Amino acid sequence: MYRVAIVTASDKGAAGLREDVSSQVAKELLECAGYQVVSMQILPDERAILSACMAEICDKNEADLLITTGGTGLSPRDWTPEATLDIAQRQVYGISEAMRAYSLTITPKAMLSRGVSVIREKTWIVNLPGSPKAVKENLTYILPALAHGLDILTEKANECATKEDM
Ligand code: MTE
Repeated sequence: MYRVAIVTASDKGAAGLREDVSSQVAKELLECAGYQVVSMQILPDERAILSACMAEICDKNEADLLITTGGTGLSPRDWTPEATLDIAQRQVYGISEAMRAYSLTITPKAMLSRGVSVIREKTWIVNLPGSPKAVKENLTYILPALAHGLDILTEKANECATKEDM
């Protein structure tokens, strides 16, 4: 069972002024898919705070997957992608490209998400947009690819090919 940490970037959420529905949506979807949610944190939209928290989760190997919600847009306080890239060792371009491509079939506003996906040590970080709707749509779409990516990252699998691929 893969371990997931969920980090929400939200000034209002961190100040206790807004209920964090998005991380609850992520938690439910992930648990239904068989993941173990090991931590949930709400942090202010501060680049250094976000990157330090994410780096600690990765460096202490506290989670195999780190899902962030929020802070991927164009607001002056949206710094989640930059905080993620600050601590990245390798990028997983396809996941974010796929989420944007799929989301564009739902709303043209999907092109406003600047989310990225990266690997640090043995932890895979995926930025999701902040609204509960966007979290549900994006996470549902990438779930089938997540397990296989994690199998490869954690070296549980080293073959991509299945019988159907041959
Ligand atoms: N993606 C999906 N699938 N569904 C959505 O409703 N909302 C978009 C976009 N991606 C949306 C989506 C909107 S309105 C914005 S502004 C960007 O995500 C960035 O959101 P964030 O600033 O909350 O991270």
